[in-house]
Amino acid sequence: MELALNRSFFYPSNEPYGGIAGFYDYGPVGILLKKKIEDLWRRRFIKELGFYEVESSIITPERVLLASGHVDNFTDPIVECERCHAKFRADHIAEEQLEHFKWNGSLEELQDVFNKHKDVLKCPNCQGNFGKVKVFNLMFKTGIGADKSVAYTRPETAQGIFTSFIRLWRNHGGKLPMAVGQVGKSFRNEISPRNVLVRMREFTQMELEYFFNPKNKFIEGFEDVKDVKMRFLSAENQKNGKGVEVLTAKDLVELGLVHEIFAYFLAKEWQFYEELGLNMEKCRFRQLLPSEVPHYSNGNVDMEIETSYGVIETISNADRSNYDLSQHQKFSGKKFEIYDAASGERLVPHVFEVSLGVDRLVFALMEHCLKENEFGEFFAFNPIIAPYDVAVLPLMKRDGIDKKAKELAKELSKVFDVLFMDTGSMGKRFWRCDGIGVPYSITTDYQTLIDGTVTLRTRDDGYQIRIKENEIKERITALKLENKTTQSKTTH
Ligand code: GLY
Repeated sequence: MELALNRSFFYPSNEPYGGIAGFYDYGPVGILLKKKIEDLWRRRFIKELGFYEVESSIITPERVLLASGHVDNFTDPIVECERCHAKFRADHIAEEQLEHFKWNGSLEELQDVFNKHKDVLKCPNCQGNFGKVKVFNLMFKTGIGADKSVAYTRPETAQGIFTSFIRLWRNHGGKLPMAVGQVGKSFRNEISPRNVLVRMREFTQMELEYFFNPKNKFIEGFEDVKDVKMRFLSAENQKNGKGVEVLTAKDLVELGLVHEIFAYFLAKEWQFYEELGLNMEKCRFRQLLPSEVPHYSNGNVDMEIETSYGVIETISNADRSNYDLSQHQKFSGKKFEIYDAASGERLVPHVFEVSLGVDRLVFALMEHCLKENEFGEFFAFNPIIAPYDVAVLPLMKRDGIDKKAKELAKELSKVFDVLFMDTGSMGKRFWRCDGIGVPYSITTDYQTLIDGTVTLRTRDDGYQIRIKENEIKERITALKLENKTTQSKTTH
C-alpha cells in the first residue's frame, strides 16, 4: 500500500476528506498500468476474435434489474451489533470467528450458525451481540429526472450488453455465435469493503458475452488452445478433499468438467494471465459448488489468485443459459428470439460469460511482480503492460543534451508511453524507473550530439548498448512484442 501511494499507483478517493472505504483513485502510474491491461484484454478477447465492443449506460432503470433478478437476488447477508449498531457481512464474521466455517450460500444455515454460536460470534468493535441475519441489496439506488423514477448504478456491465442484443443482432450479421464485450465501471454497495482494490464499491469490469446455440457447444479456434495446461480444482475434488490438478483444455472437455466453449475461454484466460506476467503457480481455476453459483447461472468456474490478502477471485466464468435474454423478453415485451440459419431453429440464444475484475487484477499483478534487490523493492512488469514503455534520460542538463532528450521523448511519445526524467544522478534515475517497472530507458549524452547514437538500457539485466536514434522505435517495439526485459544474452 505504501509503494502504491508513494509511487502514484493508487490512493483513497477524496483523501483530504478522510476517504470513504471502498473507493480508490488511480494515479498517473497506476492508470497507465490499468489501461494497458484493459487494452491487452480488448485485443486478445475482442479484436483478435472478431467480436464487438459496446459502451452502455451506467444508470439502469429498475425494470431492467427486476428482469435480471438483481433487485430480488443481488444481496449479501448482514448482521447488526445490538450494542453499537455497527453492521457487518454475516458470512465474513462467521468465517473469521469460527474455525473451519465456510458459508454455503444458505441464509437459513447462516442464521442457525449465529443462533448456535451466540457466545462466540461477537461484534469486532465492542464485543456486543448480533441481531438477526438479514439480507442487504448491494445496488446503489438513484432516481432519474424530476420524478426520481427508481434506478440503480449497474451492478455488472453485462446487462447493457443483453439489452442491446436485438439491435446488435440486427446490425451485425445476425449469425451465431456472436460475442460482445464491454469494459467499464460497475458498482456494489459492499457492506464491508476491504483489502484496498480487492473489494471496492466502484470498480472496473471487463466482460464478454458469447451468444451461441446450446446444441452447438463447439468453438472455432479450440484446436489452437486444446493443449494449454491449467491448474484446475473441480467441484468433485473439493468435496473429496482432493487438490488442484494440471489439466489441458482438451482434458477438461473429455472429463466432462466443462463444455468446449467453456474450456476454450479458460485456456485463453490462462494464456492472458501468463502474458501479463502473473505467477501461474499462484493461480488456479476453481469450479464453484452448486450452492455458490449465482442465481442466473448453470455453472461457474472462477480464476483465483493467491495474494497477501488470501485467495481472491479475479475472473468469473458463467454458463448463463438464456436466463437473461428470456427475462428481458418477458419484462420488455420485445422479442429476443432469433432465427439461427445454421440449425434452421428459432431460439433465444444461450450465453457464456467471461467476467474479469480489473482492479483486483491490477493489485494481484503488482504483488506478483514486486521484487527486491540490494537497492530496494521494484516492479518487474512485463513490457507488454508496464505503465511506461520507455524512459528518456539526458545524462546532463546542459550543452543541448537535455534538449536532444526532450526532442526524442516527444517523438517517442507518438507511439510509446514515455517517462522523461532529467533530475538526480543516473543511478537514482535508473532506480526510480525500475521502481515503477519501466522496462527500457534511453540516455542521451555528448556522443549523441556528435553521431546521433543513444544508450538503450534494459531493466532486468541492466545491459546497455549504443544504437542509432532512428533505430529506437524499431528496437523497443521488437523487444516489447517479444515481452523481453533483457538483451544481454541475445546481443552478445
Ligand atoms: N457479470 C458477472 C458479475 O458481475 O459478477
